[in-house]
Amino acid sequence: MKFHIFSLVIVTLLVTVCADEEPEAARLLVAKQILNKYLVENMDIIVKYTVHNVGSAAALEVEITDNSFHPDNFAHVSGELNARIDRVPPNSNVSHTVVVRPRKSGYFNFTSAEVLYRRTEDAPRLQVAVSSAPGEGLIVSYRDYAKKFSSHVVDWAAFAVMTLPSLAIPFALWYSSKSKYEKLAKASKKH
Ligand SMILES: *[C@@H]1O[C@H](CO)[C@@H](O)[C@H](O)[C@H]1NC(C)=O
Ligand SMILES: *[C@@H]1O[C@H](CO)[C@@H](O)[C@H](O)[C@H]1NC(C)=O
Repeated sequence: MKFHIFSLVIVTLLVTVCADEEPEAARLLVAKQILNKYLVENMDIIVKYTVHNVGSAAALEVEITDNSFHPDNFAHVSGELNARIDRVPPNSNVSHTVVVRPRKSGYFNFTSAEVLYRRTEDAPRLQVAVSSAPGEGLIVSYRDYAKKFSSHVVDWAAFAVMTLPSLAIPFALWYSSKSKYEKLAKASKKH
């Protein structure tokens, strides 16, 4: 009886292990990130796509398509919005960068890109996946951005004015001692 239970446990374990063991195939995790600290109307936004292959085989014919930057809302500056990567080896990362410029200010929901790839060399169909979505961000108007920037110039000017006394006082002391010394020197010359 004991033996039977023991062998049953072994069989169950074997079945579990076999079920977990997938045939060698690629599995991609794709992150879409906005690298800017500030999003400003008419200024570059850098978008980075990182493809991480967590599978056990190379991913082939990887295609990243980002339809979220509509030409009405964004000017395309550089990088392909429809990028093709021939091969991503297992346990490696490949990244791709796109630069766009927003035409308008306001809230914008940055959504995911679509990803297609072949999980194995002989896979009959392409695997469909999506990247992560950066989410909603506020694109500030150029005018507001410029105002914020010029207020930093005002801060700098205030800082310069505040530091002026600390420079002016030593100079005044030096100047007065110098003129005292010169008076003394002149006086001693008379003798
Ligand atoms: C690939 O990227 C992932 C997630 O960004 C990171 O955890 C991993 O360490 C990277 N691997 C390599 C080989 O760079
Ligand atoms: C942004 O878009 C995603 C996907 O369409 C949606 O799930 C999410 O709720 C949206 N976020 C906002 C703040 O509208």
